[in-house]
Formats: sequence, C-alpha cells, structure tokens
Amino acid sequence: MNDNTRQEPTLVLGGTGKTGRRVVERLEARGLPVRIGSRSGEPPFDWEDRSTWAPVLEGVGSAYLSHHLDAVPGAAEAVGSFADLAVESGVSRLVLMSGRGEEEADRVEQAVRDSGAELTVLRSTWFAQNFSEEYWRDYVVSGEVALPAGDTPEPFVDVDDLADVAVAALTDDRHIGQVYELTGPRLLTFEEAVAEIARAAGREIRYLPISISEFAAAAAEQGVPDEFIDLLTYLFGEVLDGRNAHLADGVQRALGREPRDFSDYARDAAATGVWNPSAPRAA
Ligand SMILES: NC(=O)c1ccc[n+]([C@@H]2O[C@H](COP(=O)([O-])OP(=O)(O)OC[C@H]3O[C@@H](n4cnc5c(N)ncnc54)[C@H](OP(=O)(O)O)[C@@H]3O)[C@@H](O)[C@H]2O)c1
Repeated sequence: MNDNTRQEPTLVLGGTGKTGRRVVERLEARGLPVRIGSRSGEPPFDWEDRSTWAPVLEGVGSAYLSHHLDAVPGAAEAVGSFADLAVESGVSRLVLMSGRGEEEADRVEQAVRDSGAELTVLRSTWFAQNFSEEYWRDYVVSGEVALPAGDTPEPFVDVDDLADVAVAALTDDRHIGQVYELTGPRLLTFEEAVAEIARAAGREIRYLPISISEFAAAAAEQGVPDEFIDLLTYLFGEVLDGRNAHLADGVQRALGREPRDFSDYARDAAATGVWNPSAPRAA
C-alpha cells in the first residue's frame, strides 16, 4: 500500500461521471480522503480554464485522470500539461482512464507517461453503462436504439469493474507501470446487446443500424452539443471497424477475478427501473 494515499486526498477528475463517481464511492467507502475534480466540484475544476488546475491539485497525493473528450484532437496537450503540473505539485501516483484503439488516446497516454509520474493506464472498451446512463439511455427508453454501429462485435465492459481496477491502482503499488486493457468477458454486437436489454427490461426495444451522417443529423436535432457529436462520430467511425473485436484480460490481471457479464449488467440495470418509459430523462 502507498501510505501517501492514506493521508493526502486522491483527486478524481470527472468525479461526477460514470467512472469517476464510482471511483469516489469506493475510495470513500475505504475511509480515504477524496477531492472531486469537475466543474461542479469544490474548488471547481475546468479543463477549459487553466487557472482552475493548480488549486484542485493542492495537497493531493494521487489522481485519477479522465478527460471527458480524450479521443478528440488536442486532448493530449491538455492532459499532458495537467499531468506535468500534477507532478510539479507533488502528486506521485496517476491512474489514467484511456480508450483502446484510439489514436488520440494513445497520444494522451504518452503525454502522461512523459510526466514521469508512477502511472497505471486503464485502456477501456465501450462501457455497458452507456446504455443506462449517458449517452444512449434515452434511446433505449424510446424503444429504438439507432446508432451507426453496424454489426461489429464489442466486448462491452461494466463500469463497476473499471472502478474496481482504478481503485486498486490508486491504492496498491503492484499496479504501477501496468497497462490494463479492460473488456467484458463476451463479444456482443449492438443488436445482441440491445436484445439482452430488451429481455431484461421486459419491453420491445430494437436496434436500428444507421449511417454516421444520419446519426450526426439526428443528434444535432435532439440538441446534443457539437463537441459530443464530433466525439461520437469519430469513435463510431474509427474504433468500430473490428480493431477492438477481441477480449482482453485486464480485469483478470488487475483483480484476479473474471469481469462481469453483460447479462448481469442488463439484469441489475433493468431492476432499477432506468429503462422504464416513465423514468426521468438521462442527465
Ligand atoms: N463511455 C465509454 O464507452 C468510454 C469508453 C472508453 C473510454 N472512455 C473514457 O472514459 C473517460 C470517462 O468517461 P465517463 O463516461 O466516466 O465520463 P462522463 O460520465 O461523460 O462524465 C464526464 C465528467 O467530466 C466532467 N466534465 C465535463 N466537462 C468538463 C470540463 N470542461 N472540465 C472538467 N470536467 C468536466 C463532468 O462533471 P461536471 O459536469 O461537473 O464538470 C463529469 O464528471 C473519458 O475519458 C472517456 O473518453 C469512455
């Protein structure tokens, strides 16, 4: 164990998001001090405003780094500069949330490695929770999940596994220097994933494959911010070409156990009522 992480707070960037929120919950459950790094945190942290970076790093011993737009060109410069500042501020341990098979994410990883911090990289595939939190929950609730995902299989990973790995890496020296490629235990096409969700939710929900331009136009009409449309069209266009259509063993290597299966995720998410038509809209 790293004693620093016991006394000094761990900064969790994106600490209100899908992965960060779960990392915060787990650290707090262990009685470890945590600081949320996001625009709604205290002090507030904004990637777009460099004057907010130093205050959020003050007194911090370790940090979970995630950038909400890490696949977008320019992210490497921002995340690398932040990692340099973190190391200058005395942060010794960094855990980076990254995406597999993404060019810009590779550049982000290298920029963070160059900071010289003790580093663990989590290279993740698509999250199962995209179907129940942001980005696609509203589509599932509407009964039609129209996405430009073709029929390429993906080994969706459960974000709870990802958070378990992140917390292990933040608190245990054995993970320093490791790159963990994180996937679920099973390849599923989007059509198969939606069919599992429909079964678990007890509703008719269908997957409709559409083109990237149809997707971008529909998202713009629904008021999705341009930066997210760019991110998603980039990811659908680049990453879903089969390059990631294989399983990896990062969860097993990091935690010594199997990853959660998509059907367990779908069953548990359905039980919360998140896919009921009367559920409130996703944030
Ligand atoms: N989703 C996937 O399938 C997937 C797959 C592989 C890798 N990843 C990567 O995983 C990472 C985490 O994604 P996530 O899905 O957990 O995130 P998320 O749920 O989308 O949450 C985004 C977080 O970023 C914060 N945020 C947004 N704009 C910000 C800004 N300008 N400055 C500072 N903070 C800001 C938000 O908090 P506030 O609103 O309070 O600022 C929130 O805490 C990202 O790097 C993503 O690329 C995702």
